[in-house]
Amino acid sequence: MMVRVSATVENVSVIGTGYLGATHAACMAELGFNVVGVDIDPEKITSLSAGDLPFHEPGLPELIRKHVTGGKLRFTTNLDEVGAWADVHFIAVGTPQVRGGTGADMTYVDTATTDLARAITKDALIVGKSTVPVGTAARLADLIAETKHPEVNLSLAWNPEFLREGFAVEDTLTPDRLVIGTTNTHDEDTLRSVYAEALDRDTPWISTDYQTAELVKVAANAFLATKISFINAFAEVTETVGGDITTLADAIGHDTRIGRKFLNAGVGFGGGCLPKDIRALQTRVAELGLDHSMRFLDEVDQINLRRRKKTVALAFDTLDQDVIGKKIAVLGITFKPLSDDVRDSPGLDVAARLFNAGADVAIYDPQGNHNAAKRYPRITYNDTLNEAVTGAELVILTTEWDEFKTLTPEDLNHKVTTRRIIDARNVLNPHHWENAGWTFTQLGRQSPHD
Ligand code: UDX
Repeated sequence: MMVRVSATVENVSVIGTGYLGATHAACMAELGFNVVGVDIDPEKITSLSAGDLPFHEPGLPELIRKHVTGGKLRFTTNLDEVGAWADVHFIAVGTPQVRGGTGADMTYVDTATTDLARAITKDALIVGKSTVPVGTAARLADLIAETKHPEVNLSLAWNPEFLREGFAVEDTLTPDRLVIGTTNTHDEDTLRSVYAEALDRDTPWISTDYQTAELVKVAANAFLATKISFINAFAEVTETVGGDITTLADAIGHDTRIGRKFLNAGVGFGGGCLPKDIRALQTRVAELGLDHSMRFLDEVDQINLRRRKKTVALAFDTLDQDVIGKKIAVLGITFKPLSDDVRDSPGLDVAARLFNAGADVAIYDPQGNHNAAKRYPRITYNDTLNEAVTGAELVILTTEWDEFKTLTPEDLNHKVTTRRIIDARNVLNPHHWENAGWTFTQLGRQSPHD
């Protein structure tokens, strides 16, 4: 495709205003661009325009309000308007796990791209940010060429996003690397001007082809998932043979080739990215006839899911196999702290399994109650930690919010009915709890008195 987009970018659109898109739009405005966020959902547009987000992300509502008020950022459902206006269009719609399967649902990306290409009346660069199966960008480039107005010069680049929930603004404004898949240097120059501020700070700039750019994203998430399941597989061993998984992680983590990050054993990974990305990657690679290459990711997934079952089994063991009618306080049901996201959440899964087994489950989470209640309305949700633990015969810590990490036995001693706790994130000090007369259990760690 021939491209004549000016390297001077002023106007930017972001298609899709979910988690990724809303963050990207606000951050582009913070970098000085005029930004319009586009979504098909008019309700989302109204609430975003008021700075109200349907999810919890520290710092993001403030950033959106700042730039909506300052005139740099607005939201619309009108694709034609941005098609005549923006120099660069970012595609940031979701690629959820397909219903009833393991691959990625590409409907949103495909529709957004073709609708956009049809709407664009001014030479522009389209930049894909969504996490997609390898080969998507090449396919979309063909779709764009077929759909666009013949007189308009349109090109496609791929620029994956690595933001973490809870740190989305920071990760977007100060990324640890920028990966750009392009087919020509002109598009790369355009993106260099978009990311000039990060380049001035010497942020690593990886300029590559479409396939590598697409694969970098899923490879990074597959690696992180593998690292977590690696340590959790060893937790299964230390649970059987004896030993301490945290000490083991500390010891191997001192080797700078391995590193200590993402080696925290516990109830495992969840969220909207890691689980679906490892499944979509396996599915895509199998489609390419390479079923063996990513088969190990199936084990990574299985190890991860076994940790949830193990936590439930520990609850049964702790309560002498009789959970019916027993009050169990589950602390933390978001997939990680600083988020209200309960998608594929290990903590919520554990809570639901115990509830289905007849336990009187009382959930408390600083941010996740409302989302979890939509999924499991019959479980009890408490507004305070105090309410959840009062009268509990067992407490299970499933997400390591600061509020739970700093808990002491004295905080709970006189509230619970029986002093039993399972720390499924390995963040509490076993000695403190055992010394205060608690039955204390962690994953992959022996009790200090065993
Ligand atoms: C992840 C990637 O980190 C990010 O780069 C990508 O863009 C999107 O997917 P996120 O889903 O926000 O980000 O969560 P992350 O911080 O990676 O945590 C994922 C899960 O792993 C959480 O459930 C967390 O509790 C769990 N985890 C993490 C562990 O169980 N042990 C660890 O040592 C680290």
